[in-house]
Amino acid sequence: MNAQITLHKGDITTDAQADAIVNAANTSLLGGGGVDGAIHRAAGPELLMECRTLHGCQTGEAKITKGYRLPAAHVIHTVGPIYRDGHHGEPELLASAYRRSIEVAAEHGCARVAFPAISAGVYGYPTDQAARIAVATVAQAMTEHPQVSEARFWLFNERVFHAFEAALSELGAVS
Ligand code: AR6
Repeated sequence: MNAQITLHKGDITTDAQADAIVNAANTSLLGGGGVDGAIHRAAGPELLMECRTLHGCQTGEAKITKGYRLPAAHVIHTVGPIYRDGHHGEPELLASAYRRSIEVAAEHGCARVAFPAISAGVYGYPTDQAARIAVATVAQAMTEHPQVSEARFWLFNERVFHAFEAALSELGAVS
């Protein structure tokens, strides 16, 4: 398998090797806190102007914009589910957010894609489960879309980083 999943600690907005960075947005696409706020701050106000033209995004879907002042040329905005109890379609919606992000990246020729831990912050998805869904879905989607050769997960704290490490080793993928 040529596709690679790599893990990184820190701020996704600093990634200078990704062709696209994925934003864990909300359905309005008009900004928010967490990684969404960080991406909008780093990209500058032109990002919000372009987002206004997109008329939102459904949970589990993804839409692309330019990256403006970010090192990455593109931002792929996706919306993960708000976690309730795991029985309201959350696993499928979280997997869909990752899968659609890879599909949109492939359509736009983005070979290296940076991801945050979607839904694992304010949206409350249990970290271990979110990590397993993230790595398994992205690994599968990259086999279907070989234009995407690297998924670069940016994990903001040690706990989330270790959850992704464990999920990757369960999967037997290259880190
Ligand atoms: N780089 C990488 N990861 C980050 C960064 C960063 N700069 N900042 C935070 N994280 P969250 P969600 C981590 O809450 O759960 C927004 O308001 C964070 O520690 O950003 O999908 C949106 O507008 C956590 O592990 O996203 C939505 O309303 C992970 O990124 C809502 O939050 C995701 O946390 C989406 O919630």
